[in-house]
Amino acid sequence: PSPVPSLCGIPLKYISLITLAVQNSILGLIMHYSRVSTPSSRTYSAATAVMMNEVLKGSISIIIAFYRVEPGGDAPESPFFSIFRPRVFMIKCRKLSRDILSADCWKLSIPAVLYVIQNNLQYVAASNLPAATFQVSYQMKILTTAAFSVLLLRKKLTSLQWISLLALAIGVGIVQIQSGVATHHGSSAELTSMNGSKGFLAVVAACFTSGLAGVYFEMVLKNSQADLWVRNVQLSLFSLLPCVAHILFSGSTVTIGSSGWFHHLFRNFGVWAWATVLVQVFGGLVTAMVIKYSDNILKGFATSLSIVISFLASVALFDFRMTWPFVIGSAVVLNATWLYNHHPQNIRVITGRDLRL
Ligand code: C5P
Repeated sequence: PSPVPSLCGIPLKYISLITLAVQNSILGLIMHYSRVSTPSSRTYSAATAVMMNEVLKGSISIIIAFYRVEPGGDAPESPFFSIFRPRVFMIKCRKLSRDILSADCWKLSIPAVLYVIQNNLQYVAASNLPAATFQVSYQMKILTTAAFSVLLLRKKLTSLQWISLLALAIGVGIVQIQSGVATHHGSSAELTSMNGSKGFLAVVAACFTSGLAGVYFEMVLKNSQADLWVRNVQLSLFSLLPCVAHILFSGSTVTIGSSGWFHHLFRNFGVWAWATVLVQVFGGLVTAMVIKYSDNILKGFATSLSIVISFLASVALFDFRMTWPFVIGSAVVLNATWLYNHHPQNIRVITGRDLRL
């Protein structure tokens, strides 16, 4: 068996799970702040942000994938300096393009489209819900991920796990009840620009795409020998088309003036917008590693840890006042997540045979 990848002796699986928990809470807060800190007429384009996320993530993945390609033949002295030898460079380029354009690359088009939709919906949700409410409601993706894992990966869940999933839905419901009550004491401009029902609908839809796309990506990844970074490049390449289509067909394009496309795309794209994109790029790369080294259901566990961090930060940064329904609902969500992951011995190990597409 291949050795478990680790960094400084700590398994990559745990490093990536903890990193993802921290990344998720930062993203929820930063995205919310970047959207509501300016009036909606002066905010940046979410469609551009989603496209930049894919462009940057794809570029990073292609560099890593290129570095990892084995040139074969006469092994050069150092893998890093060898890429500066024209012959090795050309061999690597040829091998990498063959890997990227493999016969089964089309399979990535499905999660790619779903993730583009999801990443856009996240902006709608973060613009219309308080950061902590968004974070808790988004935990429903554990439910959809479990459902799609059962359907597509034929994973078996214990009755306790089903109960914990039900508890999770109830917990999110309780938190939602309070979000209609005045708990958020932001500026009046911020409050009037938020639409709770719109935000909640966006979260529900994002939970569906998250579950389906995540499980589908896991299925494609674990059912083939292809490198994770090559799969990431394929995912980003297939994402570009829906990203561009969204930019072209979103109504805002009709208002382009003499300043040109480039200026229009990046209008109001300030420091916070770029910070949101960068945190999302980092999260995408870590998510891919979590899916590879553990699985989607465990990923849900990591992200629910982010609730606690978001709570505390929302109170400090956004004057978010905690109410009893919020505390009780969040406690139910956290406990449900813990209960769900409490019996790892009962979780069936997924084998290659289960992962037929
Ligand atoms: O909320 P959820 O955990 O489903 O979000 C996953 C995020 O990770 C999405 O923004 C998606 O674009 C990104 N991702 C990625 N590369 C992968 C898998 C997911 O960038 N291989």
